[in-house]
Amino acid sequence: MKQFNICVLAGDGIGKEVTDWGVKALETAGRYHELSFNFHHELLGHAAIQATGNPLPDATLERCKASDAVLLGAIGDPHYDLNPHLKVRPEQGLLALRKGLGLFANIRPILLFDELLDASSLKRAVIQGTDILFFRELTGGIYFGEPRGRKLNGTVAYDTKVYAKYEVDRIARMAFEAAKSRKKILHSVDKANVLESSRLWREVVQDLTPEYPEVEVVHMYVDNAAMQLIKNPKQFDVVLTGNMFGDILTDEASQIAGSLGMLASASIGNEVGLFEPIHGSAPDIAGQNIANPLATILSTALMCNRSLNAPTTGQLIIDAVDAVLKAGYRTKDIMGPQTDPQKVLGTHKMGEQVLNHIHSIAEKNVPA
Ligand code: IPM
Ligand code: MG
Repeated sequence: MKQFNICVLAGDGIGKEVTDWGVKALETAGRYHELSFNFHHELLGHAAIQATGNPLPDATLERCKASDAVLLGAIGDPHYDLNPHLKVRPEQGLLALRKGLGLFANIRPILLFDELLDASSLKRAVIQGTDILFFRELTGGIYFGEPRGRKLNGTVAYDTKVYAKYEVDRIARMAFEAAKSRKKILHSVDKANVLESSRLWREVVQDLTPEYPEVEVVHMYVDNAAMQLIKNPKQFDVVLTGNMFGDILTDEASQIAGSLGMLASASIGNEVGLFEPIHGSAPDIAGQNIANPLATILSTALMCNRSLNAPTTGQLIIDAVDAVLKAGYRTKDIMGPQTDPQKVLGTHKMGEQVLNHIHSIAEKNVPA
């Protein structure tokens, strides 16, 4: 029996509902492969501010560092948007956690399930066959650059976009490696026609090309990339971006997959990896048992593949999600005109279906 310590950060809003099912999926699938888990729950975001005044309490960071992997729900609360003068925000907790764990690479697969082709607002012919792997730089760029602040009595505000060569180099290498093992094409996104930091970005990526002769590199301006993504998503395979461009483009790309509620992500650095759905805390639907738990469940599959060296368990979880969709079950956010109203499920029922299918696939039974 292999034992893992997983730190669970439910965070805010729908975070608890969805991580509960991530935990159950991991436990259920792991049991078939001799994996067992200790789950430690810690606070992050608004929940942490309420309890301790700090969006990333020391205890949370310490527990994450001592774990084999971290499962995160979502953070954020409308309270802060209504009170913009508040200096402490939930998002600071997530950013400090990324920095504190050295998670410089955010990997976001745009994985399409055939069953959901009609849930996208884009035409089936445009999206069918799309399979994109984003590498978003996560601990640099305008999210962290100094100086930032206000001047002239608060009437002028500024942020700074900074990239050092080593920051670009280390994530670019990850993207090149992925491209090498996939379709051997890498799109690097920048705004080198305007920004100096983007010119450095392009230089560093270009300088790596002799080390990866089999990979074709396409440098693309971010505005064009935003357009090409919905015009012809199939031209992309591995996409490399800076922090903010990646934040924006991956939300856009989520619509190719039908819903933000389906996309998982892995944040990787030197040691502990963090796994989370790319959706937010969705305070408008929190506590109503309608949130889609599948992105979080799929994030546990990424955890198995990337951090726990348990790809068979990861595949079992993905196969179970696929089977649930094939059986016609949907949460509200991914239902379409063809969906049988009897098969529109809440969070709990959807989670239970995934567990049932994990059992039936692992035991090679046909589910009832
Ligand atoms: C994301 C989110 C975060 C980000 C927010 C919550 C700080 O949008 O993970 O994509 O901008 O990185
Ligand atoms: Mg985002």
